[in-house]
Amino acid sequence: MNWLPRPADGQAHVAPSLLSADFSDLKSDVDDMTGAGADLLHLDVMDGHFVPNITFGPFICQAIRRISRLPLDAHLMITNPGQYLESFARAGVDGLTVHVEASGDMGETLDAIGALGVKRGISLKPGTPVEDILPWLDRLDLVLVMSVEPGFGGQKFDPGAVEKIAELDRRRHDEGRGFLISVDGGINEQTGALCREVGADILVSGSWLFGAEDRATRIALLRG
Ligand code: DX5
Ligand code: ZN
Repeated sequence: MNWLPRPADGQAHVAPSLLSADFSDLKSDVDDMTGAGADLLHLDVMDGHFVPNITFGPFICQAIRRISRLPLDAHLMITNPGQYLESFARAGVDGLTVHVEASGDMGETLDAIGALGVKRGISLKPGTPVEDILPWLDRLDLVLVMSVEPGFGGQKFDPGAVEKIAELDRRRHDEGRGFLISVDGGINEQTGALCREVGADILVSGSWLFGAEDRATRIALLRG
């Protein structure tokens, strides 16, 4: 298990989303992002049912585990996460983030993730209010705020995410909680700064980071 502490005030950890990597040469991209200063890797798992796209599952996560020592957060955009938690844990991921809109008893799912010795995360889509995850804040290690509709990289940032991050940060402070706040979708220098300023701890970025000639500079810009 390999996880991250809260970053210093005004700073954020940077998580490249491998959705935008070149999977025919994945190791080069992972090594390059690691050398450029990535703090963790974001793995987008899609089942073609919860979202209209299909990516990869535990098998590829395990391959990524073999080529990287960075913490791995698997973002499960799948309908029945409970059915696959053990496979992902065995694949060696450090965090499992499930969608609050997915099927199954969320309390049981989170307990199962914890019992597997993996960090527990919940994600919410742009149309889902923060209220929907309040019952589980006390047992979360991570909240992943989606700033695009999940399913595809390269979409435009939804500014509604900023108020959600601010609200989560306020609650975390008032209630003394330790969960990290991550934001995913349309993150670049400008949108990343907006999110950082209101309390985001992890900035997930796919197309903007992978599209750069100089990835180290972009990671440094996101870190703040
Ligand atoms: C979208 C994924 C994101 C995606 C972000 O469903 O969850 O992680 O890769 O890509 P960009 O940064 O291009 O919006
Ligand atoms: Zn994601």
